[in-house]
Amino acid sequence: MIKIPISKPFFGEEELLAVQEPLKTGWVVQGPKVAEFERLFAQYTGARHAIATTSCTTALHLALMALGIGPGDEVILPSFTWVATANVIEIQRAKPVFVDIELETFQIDINQIERAITPRTRAIIPVSLFGLSAEMNSILALAHQYNLKVVEDDACATGAWYHGHHAGTLADMGCFSFHPRKAITTGEGGMVITQDERIAEQIRSIRDHGASKSDLARHLGARSYLLPDFNVVGSNYRMNDLQGALGVAQMSRLQTILERRRQIADAYTKALSPLGWIRPPVTPQDCVHGYQSYVCLFRPEQPTMQNVARLNALRNSLMDRLEAAGIATRPGTHAVHALGYYRQTYGIQPGDFPNAYIADQLTLSLPLYAQLSDEEQGYIIENLTKGF
Ligand SMILES: Cc1ncc(COP(=O)(O)O)c(C=O)c1O
Repeated sequence: MIKIPISKPFFGEEELLAVQEPLKTGWVVQGPKVAEFERLFAQYTGARHAIATTSCTTALHLALMALGIGPGDEVILPSFTWVATANVIEIQRAKPVFVDIELETFQIDINQIERAITPRTRAIIPVSLFGLSAEMNSILALAHQYNLKVVEDDACATGAWYHGHHAGTLADMGCFSFHPRKAITTGEGGMVITQDERIAEQIRSIRDHGASKSDLARHLGARSYLLPDFNVVGSNYRMNDLQGALGVAQMSRLQTILERRRQIADAYTKALSPLGWIRPPVTPQDCVHGYQSYVCLFRPEQPTMQNVARLNALRNSLMDRLEAAGIATRPGTHAVHALGYYRQTYGIQPGDFPNAYIADQLTLSLPLYAQLSDEEQGYIIENLTKGF
């Protein structure tokens, strides 16, 4: 039987060769390969600085630490995102303040942000979910008006553009993921980008225990036996050079990977749009979707909090049928406010952010990766057009 996974990393000879280099030189901790990957990523996105980390979660955590966000502070985020966006706020002992999403784009509802702002609000984390930027002009205007920092959760946003700017470059910081379900991968891995020299210096230091100098700079400089000073508290969130080498090789394929993913996404949209009961992802004008994943809304009728349980059962039986046909699918992501910890800690009900809950119950992510053949995609579409 055909087995089509939801996602597959794109590796070849280049990657196999690239990871051998640090093994041969023996320099496997963060070093020249990470520096090269950072340089290429900054160049691609147009950011002045790119700082590699162990994951997007640690990139987001570093961003909040660099902004000094802590107890008593509030941070606004969409309620439909991966749990990490909220967890990093909790880890800093600050309070996550959820805002519902628009079902059309799965993005934070910009009309509901202002009423969530209080005198304790310090920052907004818009999420470029599935590879589509949030409505940044409105968010930046609000941030300016209320003196808030903006950290984009760009875990899914490599290759996502907003009004000609790469995701993350308009905010104070953008945090990316290189988990294998992303367009390019370093196994696990992340990156913070920023245009701000001072923030970049802080992030580099906090990523490395608060050191005033990196290991590489120390080894290359005079009196390399002397340890640097440590002026701030930090942790170890350093990407290693095996991952850096992989990142460099992946950057050389990024355009090819993104182009093929867009081609597949367009073919899905063309085939699924006439079906009516499934709504393909929507791309607002002046945005380029990065298509980290292709997430549809299962919508045989207008979803509401009253019919969502029934529609969810129908979506799940469709997912069962696809799985039996060898086609993997997933929900888009989850409604964080409805997860056990957040429900219990803040006494939130699923219906407090209905669109996020509906998206949680009714999204359907289809297989999307550059190596997916036309034949395999045809098989997926054929199975979808059979209905639910
Ligand atoms: C929106 C969002 N934020 C954060 C993360 C966490 O990324 P990582 O797995 O690199 O920590 C993910 C992971 O998929 C994500 O989708």
